[in-house]
Amino acid sequence: MERKNIRLEELDINKRIITHLQAQGISELFPPQASAFKTDVLNGKNLVLAIPTSSGKTLVAEICMLKAILDGRGKALYLVPLKSLAREKYAEFKKYESLGITTSMSVGDYDSPGKSLHDADIVIVTTERADSLVRHKVEWLNDVGIVVADEVHLINDQKRGPTLEMVLAKLTQIVKDIQIVALSATISNANQIAEWLDAELVRDTWRPVPLSEGVYLDGKISFYRDGKNTQRRINRTRRDELADVVCDTLDEDGQVLVFVSSRRSTIAVAKKLAPFLRRYISDEAMRQLSKGATKIGGAPSAPEASKILARLIANGAAFHHAGLDNKERALVEDYFKENLLKVIVATPTLAAGVNLPSRRVIVRDYRRYEPERGSYPIPILEYKQMAGRAGRPKYDEYGEAVLIARTEPEQDFLIDNYTLSEPEEITSKLASPRAVRAHLLASVAAEMTRNREEIDSLIAGTFFSHQFDQWEINQHVSSALGFLEEGSLIETSTDGSYTATPLGKRTSELYIDPYTAILLRDVLSETDDHNIIGILHLICHTPDQPLTYVTKSEAEEYEVTVDDYLDKLMIEPPIEESPRAYSDFLAQIKTATLLQDWISEKTEKDITERYNVGMGDVHRFVQSAEWLTYAASEISRIINATSHIHFLHNLRSRLRYGVRSDILELVDLKGVGRVRGRMLHSHNLVNLPDLYKVPIEELARIPTIGTSIAESIKKQLGFDIKLTDTETEDLIDDDDSIDSMQTLLEDFGA
Ligand SMILES: Nc1ncnc2c1ncn2[C@@H]1O[C@H](COP(=O)(O)OP(=O)(O)OP(=O)(O)O)[C@@H](O)[C@H]1O
Ligand SMILES: [Mg+2]
Repeated sequence: MERKNIRLEELDINKRIITHLQAQGISELFPPQASAFKTDVLNGKNLVLAIPTSSGKTLVAEICMLKAILDGRGKALYLVPLKSLAREKYAEFKKYESLGITTSMSVGDYDSPGKSLHDADIVIVTTERADSLVRHKVEWLNDVGIVVADEVHLINDQKRGPTLEMVLAKLTQIVKDIQIVALSATISNANQIAEWLDAELVRDTWRPVPLSEGVYLDGKISFYRDGKNTQRRINRTRRDELADVVCDTLDEDGQVLVFVSSRRSTIAVAKKLAPFLRRYISDEAMRQLSKGATKIGGAPSAPEASKILARLIANGAAFHHAGLDNKERALVEDYFKENLLKVIVATPTLAAGVNLPSRRVIVRDYRRYEPERGSYPIPILEYKQMAGRAGRPKYDEYGEAVLIARTEPEQDFLIDNYTLSEPEEITSKLASPRAVRAHLLASVAAEMTRNREEIDSLIAGTFFSHQFDQWEINQHVSSALGFLEEGSLIETSTDGSYTATPLGKRTSELYIDPYTAILLRDVLSETDDHNIIGILHLICHTPDQPLTYVTKSEAEEYEVTVDDYLDKLMIEPPIEESPRAYSDFLAQIKTATLLQDWISEKTEKDITERYNVGMGDVHRFVQSAEWLTYAASEISRIINATSHIHFLHNLRSRLRYGVRSDILELVDLKGVGRVRGRMLHSHNLVNLPDLYKVPIEELARIPTIGTSIAESIKKQLGFDIKLTDTETEDLIDDDDSIDSMQTLLEDFGA
């Protein structure tokens, strides 16, 4: 159905914004955007915008944020679930700097340089970071006038959903008159979200770029669009059906995004497709690709996974999953946007919000495997999000989403259950012991709720209470309060009011599970003894530490390791418990061993190969262990278990840098990491006085050091040196340090 667009000038907003948007190539509003502005949203009314993928929800949110900022209603908080999405939005919002409107971002281990969150007008954060800001009672939160919840269907997520609804409930309670704008393409019960948020609701099915969804079987895609069914024949010339479906789009100069269910498959499928791509890539593009490949996998010490990625990139294909590190992730996304890479094979970590030039999205796997659940078909909502990555206005005139069937009954199943289906209703996942105890402690510790009545009123403001009877969660609330009190994280006074103990307060600020704090406290208060593997395993035994898996064939090896370590462990192996508890225990032992290798300076290559993980994973394990070690030292301090403190501090530094104790002093220098630190040490430069004394020329001659690093070291030691190379900063492999726990919880773990 053709509908009239509305010109930007008709909007009641500052003319400078209009001119700015026009310069970005936006002159008219899409019809659903126009409907959004017919509500009272520009005057501060809450809005739920439930319109299709790629229909421009961000622009609506953007204009609302700018209006709130320029009207003096306060700064804007933009919540996102995924790192890649945050990066994209940051790049977009930064363009408003020419209007004097500044943007900052804080996600995961990456904070945008420049303006601090405090000073910025627009602040982009992950849900967990927002929660942490609330816990720390960050003062500028009171200046927030508008919060945008992008991809608000995250509420449906078992792990992360509770945090999002609590953040929204808390912000509404602590910031007077805060405006909420919630966005999603895939909530069929958007009316419930709107009622919950007391928001106007705008729904629409209009999409600027038509999207056909279909299912491939046996040389043919059966497409559906607007109720019409069409068939597309696929040239079957390659003895690989997936390659045929991919090349069908490449033949017409399009690009393809393939979704698969596991990281391992991303690599396998990318490898399988790469040999078919050469003829679609110009020589000039080949040269650029090979430059990028060198950046990723060029160093002899690069981990095997990075080398594989590099080889694929050089051939025009790439894989993408949460195990990639920031540099790899950015390069893959940017090269795809520049049409250098023709194909990306990804896990759902690219499935929401991002704008990519993928004319065709292929969802190869509609089943997923999780150890706890076995194999199950993915929710329609997730399929629709993946499908929605196809056909984005900036890049394509049309989009196609294709599922792959092997048999006719399967094709029918896919058409009925995905192609022609509406997403499921989203439901609150707040009623879980883990979520409730963490969020209750946080609200008591921040003095937001001082008694049961106030707790009930906070809970009453959640989506859970809107959707279900509150009594259903009362039970969880009562037992969580009991748990926190018994664990001495909170205290009840005679008048029934709650206060957090010093340990409870710190637990909340540290963003760790109350269960973790109690475990660490109990174990560390019991003994003055400690040893590396014992502590590393204790850390891995907490529910906050991500773990690697133990495969069936590895189980025996780690059973032996358990026996070897038995005297040193601070937690005993489970006896006669479920096999599940034992296999968890083995996974903890395996992860602890990995961490021990890291602080023994085993190379990245050795670690990734021995444990069959990517470097991104290693960083994740290490960062989280570093944080939990810090948490353990904080807890030791609070409970006066002073014998552990120095040991834990030392261990924390070793985890941060991945080094033995003898070079800790060296790696504290900027630009000196585990490799250069060891190199200096092996040249008899073992401490700062040695480095002070050594002539700069000699220092520069040491392998891996060179002139710019030598200069930088000398400068840090107080020498008056002008850096000859202004790009030194780039040369310096900064050791990513992490400042808190919530950053690890983002990304769907995909
Ligand atoms: N009025 C407009 N005119 C032209 N292009 C627009 C307009 N509004 C948005 N766009 C462009 O459309 C693209 C998709 O917008 P956006 O990312 O906001 O989609 P979305 O609705 O958030 O989709 P998703 O549900 O997938 O996140 C962007 O590249 C954006 O610049
Ligand atoms: Mg979006």
